Amino acid sequence: MAREFTRVGVVGLGTMGAGIVEVFARNGIDVVAVEISAAALERGRATLTGSTDRAVAKGKLAEADRDALLSRVDFQVGLGALHSVDLVIEAVPEHLDLKQRIFAELDRVCKPEAILATNTSSLSVTEISVATTRPNQVIGIHFFNPAPIMKLVEVVRTVVTSADVVADVEALCTRLGKVDVTINDRAGFIANALLFGYLNHAVSLFEARYASREDIDAAMKLGCGLPMGPLALMDLIGLDTAYEILDTMYRRGGRDRRHAPVPLIKQMVTAGLLGRKSGRGFYTYERPGSPKVVPDEQTPVATKSSLADGARAIAKVGIVGSGTMATGIIEVFAKAGYEVISVTRGAEKSAKVCEAVKTSLNKGVVRGKLSETDRDAALGRVTWSATLDHLADVDLVVEAVVEELSVKKALFASLDEICKPGVVLATTTSSLPVIDVAMATQRPADVIGLHFFNPAPIMPLVEIVRTIRTSAETAATARAVCAVLGKTGVVCGDRSGFIVNALLFPYLNDAVKMLEASYSTADDIDHAMKLGCGYPMGPFELLDVVGLDVALAIQRELYLELREPGFAPAPLLEHLVTAGYLGRKSGRGFRDHTHL
Ligand SMILES: NC(=O)c1ccc[n+]([C@@H]2O[C@H](COP(=O)([O-])OP(=O)(O)OC[C@H]3O[C@@H](n4cnc5c(N)ncnc54)[C@H](O)[C@@H]3O)[C@@H](O)[C@H]2O)c1
Repeated sequence: MAREFTRVGVVGLGTMGAGIVEVFARNGIDVVAVEISAAALERGRATLTGSTDRAVAKGKLAEADRDALLSRVDFQVGLGALHSVDLVIEAVPEHLDLKQRIFAELDRVCKPEAILATNTSSLSVTEISVATTRPNQVIGIHFFNPAPIMKLVEVVRTVVTSADVVADVEALCTRLGKVDVTINDRAGFIANALLFGYLNHAVSLFEARYASREDIDAAMKLGCGLPMGPLALMDLIGLDTAYEILDTMYRRGGRDRRHAPVPLIKQMVTAGLLGRKSGRGFYTYERPGSPKVVPDEQTPVATKSSLADGARAIAKVGIVGSGTMATGIIEVFAKAGYEVISVTRGAEKSAKVCEAVKTSLNKGVVRGKLSETDRDAALGRVTWSATLDHLADVDLVVEAVVEELSVKKALFASLDEICKPGVVLATTTSSLPVIDVAMATQRPADVIGLHFFNPAPIMPLVEIVRTIRTSAETAATARAVCAVLGKTGVVCGDRSGFIVNALLFPYLNDAVKMLEASYSTADDIDHAMKLGCGYPMGPFELLDVVGLDVALAIQRELYLELREPGFAPAPLLEHLVTAGYLGRKSGRGFRDHTHL
């Protein structure tokens, strides 16, 4: 018969423990909440009441339910209070020796049939279990932060965990309204194994001053639809906890350099900058524990006039190309009030692009997002041409031709001859070095990358790529133009993948490697990232949308430029591409789309 869990214990009421207490108490289960000292206990109690009060204020919890919830929690100092519970979840700091000591003590204190669970993110559940005389009743129950909100629980079984213990814990997760994935004991399990390489990489970009914290976070939120950027997420997780997780994953997970904690993390931990819980991490918060970011010395100052920081006035814009990106970009500029000259390689192509822009604008009218007058005005601002000579007096050129360096270089050399001095020359390349294009001209200081995302009229992000020769004025102009377009422009250096692709594709590649290693299924991995981390799509869903060939090409570029062994494309990805399984566009990728 399945176990009844009427009373559970939670050890450690920090970031995770306090949330886990709330999850149980909300679902009618009595909780003994244990801390190491009276002061820590009060902190834990305050976290719980703060969270439930916020839920009441937001109308998500009735006052009476909050009171009932809190009345189910018995706050105690010391493990002795756990003698009568059916299950204990430990959520103390991520140190093996501490956890082993606690489990040895729990083994002495708790009744023989009690299940002992750890919320560890990266340590070996097996190593923790052998500190007890009942390793078959030890299991990992890995909640996600914030525990009351995130739906996923990773249930981690060791080689000795009893099958009935696993089944009972799975049933408990369902009772708590969670979705569980059950997996074996491997460093980082599913979600953290895929998440922490990415977080560490984001910190390294910040440490190298490749982009600002705001820009790195905005890029991942707006470019990938993530609920928060990587640096804000590090603050939420806690830098001390993140450090320990990375360190353990590095040691347990095959010494992948990408998990070696970036030195800045250690420095911040030493300086007491632990993230939200201490009131300051990558960002500064209103007070310790508060989710509200307040300005500090790194907060960008909004300049009143964009011309103040040297931006040049832009009225007339040339857009070269006739593909998807060029078409979208023409629409974006025309709608924002710029005079646009579209240059393609022939009248036929121009007619096609013109049709596509009209169709898209008409859709806007049908959806009520654009008036007919505004549509006509936007179209009226575009001149269609097939000769570059018409770009002699534009203020900005945006190049969106085929992704081939020789073609782009030849085009920039021509623009250099044709355009007036002081023009900003921008490329929309997503993978080529902008400096190569810049050096095809005699005016590299005026050349910059403007990496729009597809579909350009919808995606709110533009990566502004500065080369080592780009002038401050050119960058300021690009920023000002993005603001007029209603886009968020993030400034980054001229490195393969810029911000978004550099952070996104290695994670996707890691997911493929995890699947290849048969650690989990594509469905469970997709679930884990959506329900544990709030991603809009799981990695395999996304790969099928992006195209496996595109993903492989980007991953190869990253690997070639950075020579990071961990970036080597997953052999399974290469095989699928060779086999013609390219994702939705070919009907099959990781999933078969022909029947969907
Ligand atoms: N932070 C996250 O996002 C996250 C997510 C999932 C899992 N985890 C895991 O959860 C565990 C806890 O992490 P956290 O971020 O909540 O840490 P935390 O530092 O916020 O909280 C740990 C708490 O444990 C208490 N504690 C320390 N020694 C104790 C003892 N002997 N007895 C009782 N309480 C004791 C501390 O006082 C503190 O309140 C770790 O294993 C971590 O890897 C963390």
